[in-house]
Order: sequence, then C-alpha cells, then structure tokens
Amino acid sequence: MPTATVEVPDLSTVRRIVGEWTERREEDFDAQEFSCKVITIINGKGGVGKTSFAVAWAVYLAGMGKKVLYVELDPQGNACEDLGINGSPLDDDGQAQVEAVLSQKPFQPTGEARKDLWIVPGGQKLSQLVTEMHFLKRLTESGTDLPWQYLYLCALEQCEEDYDVIVLDVAPGDETLQTNALQGADGLIVPTRSDPSSRKGLRIVAQRLAEVQEHNDVLSLLGVVLFATNTSATRVQERLRAELAKDLGGASDKVVPHSIRYVESAAVEARRRGKTPSELVRERPKGVAIGSIQDLAADYAAVNSVLITAVAQVNREMNTPED
Ligand SMILES: Nc1ncnc2c1ncn2[C@@H]1O[C@H](COP(=O)(O)OP(=O)(O)OP(=O)(O)O)[C@@H](O)[C@H]1O
Ligand SMILES: [Mg+2]
Repeated sequence: MPTATVEVPDLSTVRRIVGEWTERREEDFDAQEFSCKVITIINGKGGVGKTSFAVAWAVYLAGMGKKVLYVELDPQGNACEDLGINGSPLDDDGQAQVEAVLSQKPFQPTGEARKDLWIVPGGQKLSQLVTEMHFLKRLTESGTDLPWQYLYLCALEQCEEDYDVIVLDVAPGDETLQTNALQGADGLIVPTRSDPSSRKGLRIVAQRLAEVQEHNDVLSLLGVVLFATNTSATRVQERLRAELAKDLGGASDKVVPHSIRYVESAAVEARRRGKTPSELVRERPKGVAIGSIQDLAADYAAVNSVLITAVAQVNREMNTPED
C-alpha cells in the first residue's frame, strides 16, 4: 500500500531572514547600535496580569512619543478589550497575525489603537496558526535550524524598522507561541502573582529563557513585576521578592522593587472602559471613584520607570565593547 507523503512547506524565507537578522545583529554590535526593541511579556501561568501590564506599558511608551507595535500572541486575547477596540474594525480576531506569520511576510497592523500605538490583535483565528506550528515542529524537529521557532522573528524582522518598540503579549501554556516570542525578542518582562502556581509559571519561563538564550544570546530579562498583591507590609513584600528571585535562580536585582496592588474594582473599571488606569486618571470620567484608580496608576508609573531604566541599562551593556 502506498504511504502518504507529507509536504514540508517552503520555509526558505524564514531561513533567509534569520540569516539576515544574524548579520544585522553583528553589524549593530560592531557599530554599538544595539537597541532593546522587541520586548516580550510572558508567564507560563494564565491570569497573572500579562495583558493588563502589556497594554499599560505600550500606552505609556506611545505617550512618550515612541512608535509602538503591539502584537498579541493569544487565541483568547483581551488586549482589544483593554484598549477599547473590541468589536471595532481593528479587532480582526487574529487574522492579520495568521496571514503574516504563515506567509512569512511582515506584520501589517490592523490600525492605531492610540496615537503611535499600532496593533496586531490576537483571537480565535490564531488556533489555526498554533496547529500549523505544532505540525511544522514535528516535521522539522530532527533538523538543526528548527525553522518553526523563527516564524515570528521572520515577520518581526521585516517590519522592525518602522517602530521604536515592539511589545509581544504572549498566551500562557502553548510552547510554540512562547518559544517564537522569545526567539524574536531582545528583552523580557515577567508579570507574576505570588501564589504557588504563578511561581511555577515563573520557573517554566526561567527554564524556557535558558533554552532560548542558547540561540538568542542577546535576550535579557528586564524585570519580574509582582502583580495584584494584597499586602503593603514591607517584610511580606521582601519575602515574596526573595522567593521570586529564587525561582529565577537568584537574580534578585531583576525583581522590580515596586508592585502593582490588588484593586479589582479599578482593574475591572479600566477593562470595561478600554482605558489604562493612567488614562482614566487623566480623563476622570463621571461616575468613577478615582481614588483606587489613582493608586493603581501610581503603581504602574513606578514600575514603568524602573523598567525604562532596565532597558537603558541593557542598551548600555550591549553597546559597551568587551575588553
Ligand atoms: N491590579 C489588579 N487588581 C486586581 N485584579 C486585576 C488587576 N489587574 C488586572 N486584574 C484582573 O486580573 C485578571 C487577569 O488579568 P490579565 O488579563 O491582564 O491577565 P493575563 O495574564 O493576560 O491573562 P491570560 O493568561 O488569560 O492572558 C483580569 O480579570 C483583570 O481584570
Ligand atoms: Mg492576556
């Protein structure tokens, strides 16, 4: 009986782009022009604040005048809701993302969610892409260049010149999406809660980071953000930070020394209105108790400022020639 043959898709564009990316990286290092541009927001656990943080971070950067691209690698994404664009023409349920990645083309945003903040939404259509990536992974697993890991890098590399910062908001759980998001990234931010399963998610990321750093040696951990804590007691906070540092193999300087407090009412109000806490504070809509939103906005401001410093430090370190 004849056996069915499975056709491997033509991945020559991915291979070419990875080669060009490697060369560009070397040139950037020689010219001391490395820029920590692609920043992945990730945790192996769901519901820890990744999207809330990623949206607040992207809106903050766009507000600083940076040209930002936001890509949501999540079939169950909430970014459109948080940005107030769900159900609008910008919300394509992941279609633009699937088209770019599968056809090895640059990302084409569906539009501008804020001035200077361009979006490639996630959504159910990504399920098809995830299935395809698992298929490719099985087909090419025995090779040495593992092209399935670089499908996102391929789409990012072809549009990176158009942006100052690219934010990747990644679903928990799926290995192919997470690995792609790490291979394409320069920096990594990990929001986490302090419960045991969130910390397990953190350890998964630490392990995946170590694996990916074997291929992508510029990828730097910018910070771990402790999210939705319900304590302001300094000693408890210090203990939590020490535990998180242990999960990361002792990198205590990577745990951001400010946390995002637990205020469900403010978080729900922000998502319902499609605004970040800082935007709500500025706009002061009628009927909203602004007190707790102000506190939340202040937490985000403190965390963002630490992370901006972390980005600047990575840029400095990468652009300092070794002796
Ligand atoms: N500061 C906060 N205090 C309390 N709840 C919050 C806070 N920030 C966000 N939340 C709530 O936590 C839930 C999860 O947030 P979010 O969607 O940002 O997490 P996520 O890690 O992106 O989730 P997923 O893994 O599903 O993508 C949401 O219901 C959100 O409203
Ligand atoms: Mg999310």
